[in-house]
Amino acid sequence: MILVTGGAGFIGANFVLDWLAGSDEPVVNLDKLTYAGNMETLAPLKGDPRHIFVRGDIGDSTLVADLLAKHRPRAVVHFAAESHVDRSISDPEAFIQTNIVGTFRLLEAARRYWSELPAGEKSAFRFLQVSTDEVYGSLQPADPAFSETNRYEPNSPYSASKAASDHLTRAYHHTYGLPVLTTNCSNNYGPYHFPEKLIPLMIVNALAGKPLPVYGDGQQVRDWLYVKDHCSGIRRVLEAGKPGETYNIGGNNEKPNIDIVHAVCALLDELRPRAGGSYREQVAFIKDRPGHDRRYAIDASKMMRELGWKPADTFETGIRKTVQWYLDNPEWVTHVQSGAYRDWVEAQYATAAA
Ligand code: NAD
Ligand code: TYD
Repeated sequence: MILVTGGAGFIGANFVLDWLAGSDEPVVNLDKLTYAGNMETLAPLKGDPRHIFVRGDIGDSTLVADLLAKHRPRAVVHFAAESHVDRSISDPEAFIQTNIVGTFRLLEAARRYWSELPAGEKSAFRFLQVSTDEVYGSLQPADPAFSETNRYEPNSPYSASKAASDHLTRAYHHTYGLPVLTTNCSNNYGPYHFPEKLIPLMIVNALAGKPLPVYGDGQQVRDWLYVKDHCSGIRRVLEAGKPGETYNIGGNNEKPNIDIVHAVCALLDELRPRAGGSYREQVAFIKDRPGHDRRYAIDASKMMRELGWKPADTFETGIRKTVQWYLDNPEWVTHVQSGAYRDWVEAQYATAAA
């Protein structure tokens, strides 16, 4: 079996659902269920003996050691993190605790468990650190895309905390020989994405008749990958990646934020037309994010060349499926928009007029 951390969040839950759709290998899913974790996403696995859900913190060394000893996983796939840049700006503490201290404790528990394994299991064991392209910093318009050899230059408390956790992961390989793999992926989108991130926020605000808040001039560029393609990339790295190596995962889909917002509006205009005009009329340019990175772009050629991986979806197919999923699942959206969610959105956007 495998141990997944953060498997009730956006990418982790997609990963667990896809894993169990394609394999009978059981999953122990360790998740703290912060505001970003949602058991409803895992509802299709209710009663499935292949899915063992444990509510807990990756920083709880005793709990993690017990889980490793009891279930004897062949791999740890580590998604658990605080993941929202805007929250890291307003309140960075949790990012340091979970992303740095939590990852350290998880690595340490994994090292102790791994060091006691019999030789065959020991060499087959993997610790996969799921990371982000944001650790590489911000690109100028003409710069080449990030490759695995780019220097780390994180700019937000979120990306700095992820960079620190990547460094710890690297050090556990270099110092102790722990068989680690690191993936650095570009911006994901798709089903079960918490509506504080750009794409789901635009969809739910558009449908609710609310403003579509675009930071600054909307010309910041992100490189978008459909979440299922990220999951297939992680499975491929787990299967064939070389311990100690880093793999960039991306779909070659660089787009300015305003184009993403317009693409969402165009799909909604087609699939759920609004009385009296286009959803575009709801776009509102607001105050920019402090320290806002201008451009990310991922060069995923190593994954493609060495592991034969490629994404299955283009941006056009992925964004259509995503918008359709939000239209088909209004109850999921309503339920995640709890009191805590409303408080955050109100605080974040209250004083944000451009
Ligand atoms: P998310 O915020 O949707 O989910 C994070 C999950 O981790 C939640 O279920 C939460 O309850 C859980 N969690 C948080 N703190 C925990 C703790 N201390 N112990 C146990 N569980 C805890 O995040 P996501 O978008 O699914 O991202 C998953 C991973 O992928 C993160 O490591 C992130 O850095 C990385 N990543 C995200 C993107 C993206 O576009 N979202 C891109 C590249 C990499
Ligand atoms: P986000 O989804 O928060 O991901 P990240 O900051 O990790 O890239 O934001 C994606 C881009 O969209 C980023 O450039 C910030 C911008 N953005 C807005 O313009 N308005 C918003 O309300 C949000 C949440 C993000």
